[in-house]
Amino acid sequence: MFPVSRCRLGVPTAPSAVLAVALLSSLSRCSHLEPKDPAVSALSSYFGTKTRYEDANPGLLRGPEAPRRDPELLEENCTPVQLVALIRHGTRYPTAKQIRKLRQLHGLLQARAPGEQRTDAAGGRDLGAALATWPLWYADWMDGQLVEKGRQDMRQLAQRLASLFPGLFSRENYGRLQLITSSKHRCVESGAAFLQGLWQHHHPGLLPPDVADMECEPPRINDKLMRFFDHCEKFLTEVERNDTALYHVEAFKTGPEMQNILRKVAATLQVPVDNLNADLIQVAFFTCSFDLAIKDVKSPWCDVFDTDDAKVLEYLNDLKQYWKRGYGYTINSRSSCILFQDIFQQLDKAVDQQKRSQPVSSPVILEFGHAETLLPLLSLMGYFKDKEPLTAYNYKEQMHRKFRSGHIVPYASNLIFVLYHCKNAKTPKEEFRVQMLLNEKVLPSAHSQETVSLYDDLKNHYKDILQSCLTNEECQLPKVNNTSDEL
Ligand SMILES: *[C@@H]1O[C@H](CO)[C@@H](O)[C@H](O)[C@H]1NC(C)=O
Ligand SMILES: *[C@@H]1O[C@H](CO)[C@@H](O)[C@H](O)[C@H]1NC(C)=O
Repeated sequence: MFPVSRCRLGVPTAPSAVLAVALLSSLSRCSHLEPKDPAVSALSSYFGTKTRYEDANPGLLRGPEAPRRDPELLEENCTPVQLVALIRHGTRYPTAKQIRKLRQLHGLLQARAPGEQRTDAAGGRDLGAALATWPLWYADWMDGQLVEKGRQDMRQLAQRLASLFPGLFSRENYGRLQLITSSKHRCVESGAAFLQGLWQHHHPGLLPPDVADMECEPPRINDKLMRFFDHCEKFLTEVERNDTALYHVEAFKTGPEMQNILRKVAATLQVPVDNLNADLIQVAFFTCSFDLAIKDVKSPWCDVFDTDDAKVLEYLNDLKQYWKRGYGYTINSRSSCILFQDIFQQLDKAVDQQKRSQPVSSPVILEFGHAETLLPLLSLMGYFKDKEPLTAYNYKEQMHRKFRSGHIVPYASNLIFVLYHCKNAKTPKEEFRVQMLLNEKVLPSAHSQETVSLYDDLKNHYKDILQSCLTNEECQLPKVNNTSDEL
């Protein structure tokens, strides 16, 4: 349904290849001088949507480029014929709003009464002073842009997927790659970095050329699909612009769990508790996550919190995702049905072409979006649903909840639909099967818990969603009766 963007990932001309090799070897010599262990933090599994991909997939800390074949992946008698991947952008800078709050907090620390030698209650070093001098290296222009680590997330994901599905990502198929992206810079850039990773897969050891030089069409921007939440009137009115829709998030910010952390942090940093609020505490926690994800350093901001605090702050982050993107309101997930439907139209088309023995016109479809793209879709499909809603008042009861955004949508998270054409050895019957992968692990079907579904069964299970979405009424607000105004 969308025009195909074409790509030619050819071999570079000789001179630039030589230059690339020279550059690369000098680069590796440099990095050889300072071997660096990947930084880890006891808090890093509580960062919610700011979680590093490798913290959600610890196996990657050792071999980020090695393909990790999930033993549940389908092989026998089945050939993958199409792959549709929804990919969240890689690691990014804080937004301008977060940077402003961080600056405010930093200012508070610097404004503490000078002179006296301070020690904390245990007689240790003064953390507030350490933080006041810790560099604040985030500037307004960075505003949510993709960082170098985020490009690396994408290149490595591309390399692993290409190794996992060599037939689909073959050189011959590159001309048929279809790339769709949200208009946000970090997503467009993620698409470009992914292409560079694919190029590297076929030219190991060489520096990839600019995407412009790959003779690729730029990724095709489609916000109706990748930012459906901006185009859904009902969602905008009932949730996004509704001051009371996030009631539980606000109530938790002033609740006992957060107040406890506020008092503790005020004492640790030796600032008046009245100068702090939940938003500032949250930005301090995020700064620990940003320093780790972006700079690969363990920041003194991490020393402000213990794991119990981290669990509370993770819950605060999850509460917001739950009420704004997840099961909190039906429209959150329903607004994604246009994307869900588009995925099934792509799969339908491939099935149809395969049945007619035609080549599949789009064997690989790569779609770059946001955590806000993936969470509603996964909710629409019935995943990570807890029995009870997440509220401001049941933090303890929800300790073992399924809805943990850091496990579901870390940076570079991905939901992949793989369509297989299967031939039964005994009978001449042909079948189409679908496997879903979330963050490169097989995601059992929400209705049967099977690791693979017959395509027709899957479509049948979701037929209500697919049909109701066709009528295009999901996002319309209830009609005002204005019959009397007519004529
Ligand atoms: C805003 O959210 C509240 C709480 O869910 C709801 O009762 C109210 O109807 C919403 N307002 C609008 C304009 O949709
Ligand atoms: C709209 O209002 C008219 C007249 O008041 C009424 O007859 C009609 O049933 C209403 N339609 C709906 C859809 O409520």
